[in-house]
Amino acid sequence: MPDRNRQVLLAETPKGKLGPEHFRLADAAMPVPAEGDVLLRVRYISLDAANRAWMQGATYRSAVEAGGVMAGGALAEIVQSRSPQFRPGDLVFADTGWQDYAALPAKTLTALPKLEPLTHLLSVYGIAGLTAYFGLLRAGRPQAGETVVVSAAAGSVGSLVGQIAKLQGCRAVGIAGGAAKCAWLTEELGFDAAVDYKAGDFAKSLKAAAPKGIDVYFDNVGGDILGACLFQMNNFGRIACCGAVSQYDGAPQPHGPRGVPGLIVVKRLTMQGFIVMDYYKERERALQDLAGWVAAGKLKVQEDIIDGLENTPRALIGLLAGDNRGKRMVRVG
Ligand SMILES: NC(=O)c1ccc[n+]([C@@H]2O[C@H](COP(=O)([O-])OP(=O)(O)OC[C@H]3O[C@@H](n4cnc5c(N)ncnc54)[C@H](OP(=O)(O)O)[C@@H]3O)[C@@H](O)[C@H]2O)c1
Repeated sequence: MPDRNRQVLLAETPKGKLGPEHFRLADAAMPVPAEGDVLLRVRYISLDAANRAWMQGATYRSAVEAGGVMAGGALAEIVQSRSPQFRPGDLVFADTGWQDYAALPAKTLTALPKLEPLTHLLSVYGIAGLTAYFGLLRAGRPQAGETVVVSAAAGSVGSLVGQIAKLQGCRAVGIAGGAAKCAWLTEELGFDAAVDYKAGDFAKSLKAAAPKGIDVYFDNVGGDILGACLFQMNNFGRIACCGAVSQYDGAPQPHGPRGVPGLIVVKRLTMQGFIVMDYYKERERALQDLAGWVAAGKLKVQEDIIDGLENTPRALIGLLAGDNRGKRMVRVG
């Protein structure tokens, strides 16, 4: 075991776009677990758009403060346990932050099974997979034959949402940045259509991709894309509000989408925000379904793995700029 612990600190809270200057590498003493704690070796750090949102202030968790270890979830292995709940070698999901080792109370950890590839525990069987599953099936409530549109469709959540929509017998339409990502969605993942929101004339392209209107819109981005989708919703449509990545990196837009509440009234729309943990009582069932689809080759899992703790800032900055496909994570040790 090393005697020092490498850490990535959030050196400064960004005011505008996130850059490498907002982070700093540090070298701290190895953490020592207290009674009831475990010592964890971080294996893979999950990179999430929400990491940037946490810097803006309190969300469903408290804000990340400048000067501390950058917050983040990780797949970690127990190396020392002072709790009867865990033994060395056990795998857990934990809020370790961006560092090599962390000492945390055992009661804050989620035990994970040992399966191959381990990385699926952070992608399809992790928060991304469960968010796609619950957000679409519980908040979106798609019916066979309906049109489901998802934004950030080539990202970790979105790439699964479109495929799960297809498994429900729906028409799946993805919105993503760039022709290459759009081609990947239709040619590799089986989406029926994809719209490049960076290509211009977005509303017209969306109409062509969803000619019968939108029944379910899975919103990962907010902003103008949400605004355009609202106008193309069918009566009694559902909008699953998952996130707002277009608003995370830089000053938030001063206005919300047009047509609220008017369109919601006239079209009798339901807009439902959700946090994945809301549905954790149904987690086992969801994991069984996801595993069944993966085993049957019906759900393709795309992972985007970057090596080295020191590359975590770059990995997050790139994710916000859209240079990831599927679930991004950093392999640490
Ligand atoms: N509610 C929950 O419980 C929950 C849980 C997990 C995640 N989430 C949300 O799920 C969404 C996806 O997060 P993720 O961590 O899985 O990231 P991700 O989708 O893997 O990556 C983010 C993607 O967002 C796209 N993007 C960035 N800026 C954009 C903009 N201005 N307009 C449109 N698209 C933009 C980029 O792709 P392009 O190249 O296509 O632009 C990028 O690849 C986020 O909103 C996140 O907050 C919610």
